[in-house]
Amino acid sequence: MKKIEDQYPFLLGCYRQPTPYTPIWLMRQAGRYMKEYRALRKKYSFLEMCKNPEVAAQVTLQPVEKFNLDAAIIFSDILIPLEPMGVEFEFAKGEGPVFYRPIREMKDVERLKIIDPEEETPFLLEAIRIVRKELEGKIPLIGFSGAPFTLASYIIEGGHSRNYLLTKSMMYQAPQVWDLLMKKISTVLIRYLRAQVRAGVQAIQVFDSWVGCLSPNDYEAYVLPYSRKVLDSLNKGVPVIHFGTSTSTLLPLMKRAGGDVIGVDWRVNLDEAWQRIGYDVGIQGNLDPVVLFGPLNLIKKEVKGILKQAESRPGHIFNLGHGILPSTPVENVAALVDMVHEYSSKR
Ligand code: CP3
Repeated sequence: MKKIEDQYPFLLGCYRQPTPYTPIWLMRQAGRYMKEYRALRKKYSFLEMCKNPEVAAQVTLQPVEKFNLDAAIIFSDILIPLEPMGVEFEFAKGEGPVFYRPIREMKDVERLKIIDPEEETPFLLEAIRIVRKELEGKIPLIGFSGAPFTLASYIIEGGHSRNYLLTKSMMYQAPQVWDLLMKKISTVLIRYLRAQVRAGVQAIQVFDSWVGCLSPNDYEAYVLPYSRKVLDSLNKGVPVIHFGTSTSTLLPLMKRAGGDVIGVDWRVNLDEAWQRIGYDVGIQGNLDPVVLFGPLNLIKKEVKGILKQAESRPGHIFNLGHGILPSTPVENVAALVDMVHEYSSKR
């Protein structure tokens, strides 16, 4: 007999089982577009919020209380495991993350620490336990990490990048340094994700947000083997969503790297993406977050378009193509969630 837990539309969707309606959650569903978040954020810095389990749990639940979402995602950041590895960073005002001692040479990579998540990021695991208790089984909880490439790009470049000049130069010109760096990050991610599963998350999303800057050949040679190790390490435990942006030409390779569901953005049509990936894995996406600024009839048209492309095939998880933007109108988010449920209803 199936466990009750397996009957959540979100988890059924991840395993391409039929669901009464298309499940939906939103990347960055907790955040600045919500006044409840902004109120708390006045009292704490972003990193303080991540490191305080009660606050992180509270923020995780804010969107869940307000919208009919089919999953919660733990409030944290993909950069959290990097600090204990020895690469400190700050969120500089209006600039995103800044790493003051980026990783550029073999000696930098050698000093990176392989962390024990129970020791170094206990606040995250505690936040997961609190959220699971507070959710009382209502909806499942998603844990996450960055993928090796996206995290490597932050610590090599020292922050966000336009051309990934230093990252790609390391790949091409210092393959041994690149290999050790990717191995160390992958080892940490495997421990970090397994610790989240032990703490109670019921699915994992791995964010390879910036991998779309690579050619398919480079993805295959320099990224796929490491991502595969991380994605494989979770297999058969909880479902895994493997997400990237601008990945239209990389999709078959991302599938080879692993994941029960592949997350795509709006730069590719969902039907073409699914065809390219193959129907033996699920697909997540792919509304352009900017559509949420439009009138309701625009949102309605776009939602219907995406649902039509998914053809009611089991295995579609509705989401945005990337994170929700900070000034998104809250009432449109509520409307989106309800529209997806209504227009996909099979009852
Ligand atoms: O999805 C969720 O609701 C869970 C929380 C979550 C955050 N970041 C919270 C956050 C998740 C899953 C992330 C992932 C993340 N973080 C990614 C991958 C997804 C993506 O967007 O591609 C990346 C690249 C990061 C790194 C990061 N964190 C950047 C570049 C920034 C600054 C840009 C920005 O939006 O301010 C952050 C900060 C951040 N992470 C905020 C939140 C809510 C904003 C913090 C604030 O100022 O309040």
